[in-house]
Amino acid sequence: MGGTTGSARLRTAVTGGERDFLPGMRQAWLLPLYDPITRLAGVGRVHRRLLDQAALRPGQRVLEIGCGTGNLLLAAKRAQPEAVVVGLDPDLAALARAHRKARRRGLTVQLDRGHAEELPYADDGMDVVLSSFMLHHVPADQRDAAVREVLRVLRPGGALHLVDVGGSDDRGHRHRFTREHAVEDAPELLARAGFRDVAATGTHVHRLFGAYTLYRATG
Ligand SMILES: C[S@@+](CC[C@H](N)C(=O)[O-])C[C@H]1O[C@@H](n2cnc3c(N)ncnc32)[C@H](O)[C@@H]1O
Repeated sequence: MGGTTGSARLRTAVTGGERDFLPGMRQAWLLPLYDPITRLAGVGRVHRRLLDQAALRPGQRVLEIGCGTGNLLLAAKRAQPEAVVVGLDPDLAALARAHRKARRRGLTVQLDRGHAEELPYADDGMDVVLSSFMLHHVPADQRDAAVREVLRVLRPGGALHLVDVGGSDDRGHRHRFTREHAVEDAPELLARAGFRDVAATGTHVHRLFGAYTLYRATG
């Protein structure tokens, strides 16, 4: 599969061979439920928070790692139609859904199959990288590699905007469901990779998946 169909380009070349990955709903057959469930859960609000923080500008090259079915990616393109928007995910079925949605909405985005730990992009080519509920899907011992790859593809001074489960609000709220998967060490992870100005920009509590935290870091 590959080439250009409609307005969304789905490029499916696999670099570096096959790797295992944890799909958005943990089981591949549950993927059709991803959009209805996340819509009901109000994940769009989290995406809007991240996009408000990113404040995308015309002409920027924006990459989302782990874009799944494309909800944040397409919201990014809608928020800043003059940005070049690229989504990457290992899950072909999720990318196909993103592709269909982009075509239906007349939005031009590039969709690539790949893994965050081995990004198929040149050094310094991206102005902004977005990551939304992706990092907790990467095994803990591979997160350093993923974050180093983000730094490699970001231009110096470019920005990473990340949101993931973990953290606790000022009343110490957490949720059992997310505790085992939470990304509690994001600031250390980002600093270790060489990011500058690493900051947690807010922790919120979701009624279903518990605490989640937004971060910003400079490449
Ligand atoms: C919970 S979903 C989040 C999807 C989307 N970012 C959103 O906010 O709706 C996590 C996504 O990460 C993807 N993923 C899993 N392992 C990955 C890896 N190593 N590199 C990039 N993406 C990965 C999954 O396929 C899935 O689409």
